[in-house]
Amino acid sequence: MIEESFIPKKYSNSVENGSFTWSSPSNIALVKYWGKKEHQIPENPSISFTLNNCKTITTVGFSKKENHDSYSFEVFLDDEKKDDFKPKIETFFKRVEVYLPFLKAYHFKIETSNTFPHSSGIASSASGMSALALCLMSIEKLIIESDEAMSAEESALSNEHFIQKASFLARLGSGSACRSLEGDLVVWGKHEAISGSSDLFGVKYPNEVHSHFKNYQDTILLVDKGEKQVSSTVGHNLMHGHPFAQQRFKQANTNLTNMVTILKDGDLDAFIALVESEALTLHAMMMTSMPYFILMKPNTLEIINKIWSYRKRIGSKVSFTLDAGANVHVLYPESEATSVLEFIQNELVAYCQNGQYICDVIGLGASKL
Ligand code: PMV
Repeated sequence: MIEESFIPKKYSNSVENGSFTWSSPSNIALVKYWGKKEHQIPENPSISFTLNNCKTITTVGFSKKENHDSYSFEVFLDDEKKDDFKPKIETFFKRVEVYLPFLKAYHFKIETSNTFPHSSGIASSASGMSALALCLMSIEKLIIESDEAMSAEESALSNEHFIQKASFLARLGSGSACRSLEGDLVVWGKHEAISGSSDLFGVKYPNEVHSHFKNYQDTILLVDKGEKQVSSTVGHNLMHGHPFAQQRFKQANTNLTNMVTILKDGDLDAFIALVESEALTLHAMMMTSMPYFILMKPNTLEIINKIWSYRKRIGSKVSFTLDAGANVHVLYPESEATSVLEFIQNELVAYCQNGQYICDVIGLGASKL
């Protein structure tokens, strides 16, 4: 599979206007992506749980315009005009224009909202970019289907191609966004144990998954809701020339190999060890890059220690993971949903900013509204 297969046959833009709405979730990586090559190609494969409740809902309205020289769009977050979102979207449009040749032919009104609080420290780029990519794919599908010069065969976009190309486009917006379209587990990055896996887009995890992982719970503890001091773009770049980079990329490959066995056998102890090690390794990479930085906060460590002592005391299978920030994702099997939530309320909420946390569970991916 090469990039060229996502460049569509030449079509005429016969559709005057319209609008599409997609809802797309966030995801949380179990084996982390940290470090990339040119064109958003990951240095190592990653795997994530797709979330269910943390999502972005985006509507893209489009209408034909006269002048095809430049992009024309406006962006709204919760009905409020957001001009500061425009540069990121403009960069995205430039990157994907070769794959979506209609982008300069229309004016777009992009209206978006998140189900989680804005600036909660939860990455909205994965859900946001995947929702936008899906809306753009729906527009392209409509244009192609309406092109009378195309044969029925040429204009038939298979569901597989639609979702693959949407994931491919989302990746060009924000790497991990390509893992948000489907559920409940998605792999991004070529790996020998995952058939169909690709550096170009995410694929639904194709192998056997033990029932222990069905409806796995993720309660996100909001430790620090502020803007991150170091963006993930900067963090990825600091993996270039990082003293431990090659070893880390090798480790991620091995961890994914081991994860395949863990998911099949339902080995929760091995799952805990792998996932927590991945989270701490991600942050260790940040602490050992040059310049170095720390995204965890004192309360992140308090929570981790509380989780470890609760697990020891109760024999629970609760674990944690982290993304590129201070918030803690508390992961646990559905069978422990009541007891762990009680533990969170009694012992962990005190470490959350304004006592805030979000209860989520593994989900099935994006949907068209
Ligand atoms: O998609 P980005 O560029 O925001 O990078 C995300 C990186 C991590 O969230 C830290 C790990 C991952 O695999 O999602």
